[in-house]
Amino acid sequence: METSSEVVLTGCDALADDVRRGLQRSPKRLQPRYLYDALGSRLFEAICELPEYPITRAELNLLAAHSVAISAGVASPLTLVELGGGNGEKLALLVVALVDAGVDLRVELVDVSATALELATRKLARFPQVSVAGHQATYEDGLRRIARQRAAEGRAGGMMVAFLGSNIGNLEPSAARLFLVSIRAALRIDDRIVLGTDLVKPESELVAAYDDPLGVTAAFNKNLLVRLNRELGANFTLDGFAHRAVWNAAESRVEMHLESLRTQRVSIPGSGCEVAFAAGESIWTESSYKYERAGLVAWGTDLGLARHDQWVDEEAGFAVTAFDAVGFRPGSSPS
Ligand code: TRP
Repeated sequence: METSSEVVLTGCDALADDVRRGLQRSPKRLQPRYLYDALGSRLFEAICELPEYPITRAELNLLAAHSVAISAGVASPLTLVELGGGNGEKLALLVVALVDAGVDLRVELVDVSATALELATRKLARFPQVSVAGHQATYEDGLRRIARQRAAEGRAGGMMVAFLGSNIGNLEPSAARLFLVSIRAALRIDDRIVLGTDLVKPESELVAAYDDPLGVTAAFNKNLLVRLNRELGANFTLDGFAHRAVWNAAESRVEMHLESLRTQRVSIPGSGCEVAFAAGESIWTESSYKYERAGLVAWGTDLGLARHDQWVDEEAGFAVTAFDAVGFRPGSSPS
């Protein structure tokens, strides 16, 4: 097969409107996807190296140890999709197993970050027999486009969707469930989803993972303000805001905030607005929901996704779960 690599851009031009709308809400919010500009993507890579942030290492270890079992039984040719994959390192582990198994592979990367797509495409270039396409798009737009292409081309074989890094934890549970429904809707029977999810664990570990002593996560979070200054002409002063990570046990989530350290006004010309902050008022930038392993499997079962297998790193408290698309049970609502 000929090697190809292209990047398609869709649905990424909404920053100005999203910022205006988000900062008019109460509490103020900014969408986490905007954390991943060029510097943000690099800072996130640095977060993955932190001793306090075990997610990435745990997931890499699980994927390396179980890549054959994770992809066992998928049909060739295979469309392998990764949603929000970052630098491609994890996907490469699955690609090795699939290529070794003789699967004819086509990779589709979906990420809002051009930097992430570049890094991942470069990482996968060591598999010359695998064609790689990048979609700079939100998960939904990218997935829809891929499913449409697959149908239009009458492509035979299977599809495997990898949604790793506990990215599903960054969605509200109701949105996460709906998103699983939309992934399921893009699949055919016997296609597979591989889901990486961080599990509930002691509070001290959870907070340290999102508020490290080196301050890398704080820089990652505050870089969002740098981005708004650059791209929307805003005048946020960085020392006027502090990074906060809080474990909300009732909601089973770590919340990331940027807290205003004083009363201040910020103007955001690109969004056509001015925003007032009270001292102590915060912008909610991200939630990271933590799950229980059995709950995840039950969720899937409900949505036409049968447990294929589950692997857990007990020390890090992290699970990789593989599901097979099966028929919907009567009473469940796929749409
Ligand atoms: N998907 C990652 C997670 O929930 C994203 C993340 C890690 C993150 N550290 C962060 C998001 C700090 C915002 C701030 O673990």
